[in-house]
Amino acid sequence: MIVMLLILLSAQHEGVIGIMGAMDVELRLIDESMIVESIDTIGGKTYKKGKIYGMPCVTVRAGIGKVAAAHTAQTLILRYGVDYIIFTGVAGGINPGLRIGDIVISTDVVHHDFGQVFPDSFVPFDTVGFGADSMLIALAEKAAAGLNFTPVPEGIRGEAGLPSVVLGRIATGDQFISSEEKRAWIERTFSAECVEMEGAAVAQVCKVNGVPFVIIRSLSDLANEDADVDFEVFVLYAAKNSSILVKGILEILSR
Ligand code: ADE
Repeated sequence: MIVMLLILLSAQHEGVIGIMGAMDVELRLIDESMIVESIDTIGGKTYKKGKIYGMPCVTVRAGIGKVAAAHTAQTLILRYGVDYIIFTGVAGGINPGLRIGDIVISTDVVHHDFGQVFPDSFVPFDTVGFGADSMLIALAEKAAAGLNFTPVPEGIRGEAGLPSVVLGRIATGDQFISSEEKRAWIERTFSAECVEMEGAAVAQVCKVNGVPFVIIRSLSDLANEDADVDFEVFVLYAAKNSSILVKGILEILSR
């Protein structure tokens, strides 16, 4: 069934793919493979339109956080008529079984900071989230199985080796998480694999517009007290892993 869906998506794919990242490092490698046709600045964001492996794409650095991600996703849809959105970037690990560098393909994406504040607790309004597109998920899984990711660099706990790729929920909030207590709360409350600052906003915009999406993230840190130091050390490595997977998806689509 999944193979059939993939064949259909590849064979019939004539749509435009919007590729978003928050920061320059998250899109640099992808942009390097683009034959650029036009560049526009809208709302302070630079949209590059062109072809990657012959596939029509628009890439954009959205900036950090949910508002930046939401208005950028809406612009991709309205001004560029993108048919799919893929978000690529880094995240903090929430599942303690994951290591820096590991890759998460979103099944669904939830806002972890959207809810009601009580004197002693915070109750989220939604713990289920926005479902990612099953064809894009299947495509990402297929791409991941055939790719050479960069091995885990020195200084990461556990054994050296290649990063793992998992499917699961991603939690989003307008907060950089550097707290073991908060990491554990996000794990308990949402069973998320990782946390970042844009995915659910993109997902929500995609849902209301009927645009399929998937969020791809590689861990730059583990959302604990070491997160800001780890982020600085591993952001490039993690951003590269996520880009490698997105390029793998485009490569399959171009066949
Ligand atoms: N992106 C990368 N690491 C993160 C963290 N710890 N919290 C939120 N977003 C992140």
